[in-house]
Amino acid sequence: MKYLLHTYGCQMNVRDAEGVAACLEAAGHLPAVDEADADVIVVNTCSVRGKAEEKALGKLGLLCAGKRLAPHRLVGVMGCMAQRRGAELLKKIPKLDFVAGTRQQQSIPEILARLVAGERGLVRLDDAAAVPRVPSAHLTGPVSAFVTVLLGCNRRCAYCVVPDVRGAEYSRPAAEIFDEVRQLVASGVREVTLLGQSVMNYGRSNPVWEGVRASSAGFREDFPRLLEAVSAMPGIRRIRFTSGHPSGITDELVRAMATLPHICPHLHLPVQSGSDRILGLMRRGYTAAQYLDAVARLRTAIPEFALTTDIIVGFPTETEADFQATRHLMEGAAFDNAFVFKYSPRPGTPAAAQCDDVPAAEKARRNQVLLDDQDTRGLRLNEACVGHTLEVLAEGVSLRNEERWSGRTPGNKIVAFEPPPSIAAGDLVAVRITRAGPQTLVGEVAGEGCRPIQQRL
Ligand code: 5AD
Ligand code: SF4
Repeated sequence: MKYLLHTYGCQMNVRDAEGVAACLEAAGHLPAVDEADADVIVVNTCSVRGKAEEKALGKLGLLCAGKRLAPHRLVGVMGCMAQRRGAELLKKIPKLDFVAGTRQQQSIPEILARLVAGERGLVRLDDAAAVPRVPSAHLTGPVSAFVTVLLGCNRRCAYCVVPDVRGAEYSRPAAEIFDEVRQLVASGVREVTLLGQSVMNYGRSNPVWEGVRASSAGFREDFPRLLEAVSAMPGIRRIRFTSGHPSGITDELVRAMATLPHICPHLHLPVQSGSDRILGLMRRGYTAAQYLDAVARLRTAIPEFALTTDIIVGFPTETEADFQATRHLMEGAAFDNAFVFKYSPRPGTPAAAQCDDVPAAEKARRNQVLLDDQDTRGLRLNEACVGHTLEVLAEGVSLRNEERWSGRTPGNKIVAFEPPPSIAAGDLVAVRITRAGPQTLVGEVAGEGCRPIQQRL
């Protein structure tokens, strides 16, 4: 059969979709070029905000309506919304063929086989007692790949649906992660991003080191040990990890980031709010001062450190003063980039019991103010790069301008540049920055053609 996957949501979902694609291809299925060509279409969903669920429901509705013209086509739903709403989705969308939870990637080929045999309305949700299996995903091609290291989440932030849908934390055995990275490198990948909801909690939930040697750099904490082992793997040029939580910024983590080769000097460290009162209500487990202290320790140890974040505006009871505290923190932390979200009550979360009392128009205003602030700040920080030569991992032709290529700096800034004739995806090139915008940089390859560079510029 020919399959098509539509993915919404975060990087974890992108990685899950690759896992499903790998399982389907191992079972003899092939990727479809578009919807019309597909025998089965799976919508991989997100539940983090109401809007994300609405979008996926809209897409599922359209796909199921399209079955009038292509009755043989199967339509399924997987991911966070599938896990959260389960069989209810079958009632809501009668033509839907199957629902698969967030840890069910490897069951999808079997689900398809049963549907082909005539069964309908199959539901496979996660079993909290089972040891999760993460199919390895090593489809060839891209230079950069995601590797899930920690599933689920044990933190219970008051607004967040993720612990309900993705279950309790489970750390993949280190040996399994090394196998996956080895396969990725063999297929041309040069940069891996290690994924987890609170990725620095790696190893805290279950034993992971069976058959693996101890740290030679003297790391005792599990996540720095993992970073050390991955950075020693041949062929790896860059390692990133996301998302962080300030409690994970231990002295060992800072030492690992500052001293290990290939670890990018960038962290996505969601702060959510700059008001201690709101942080308390959100149950984030830190104050604004503690957050800024973690950032200061990273900056002291890693001079070229880049920081990005997530913010929620309009959490219940958020006042103008709370909002101004967020603006103030964002300026103090000098974020290179920020993703701003309007609070959306999620059923079953503690915050949903509180009145969603910040009016939609006010949420929209606060959202826009923070985006404008960030544009100004981003431009200022990016302009400081002009005239400097930065190391860029060449990814391929720029999406915006076919004449150019694009890639990222170690600090995760996107750089567009005119490619020398000899360039190949995966090359590390030295690019002298000539222009800056709020989100991207433009530059020219420094020196004759492109040359691989060993050290970080
Ligand atoms: N409403 C709005 N934003 C949310 N996020 C998580 N839950 C919610 C919610 N209920 C945001 C957080 C998180 C990002 C992935 O999504 O900022 O870091
Ligand atoms: Fe990712 Fe959270 Fe959305 Fe699930 S709900 S896809 S974990 S952002």
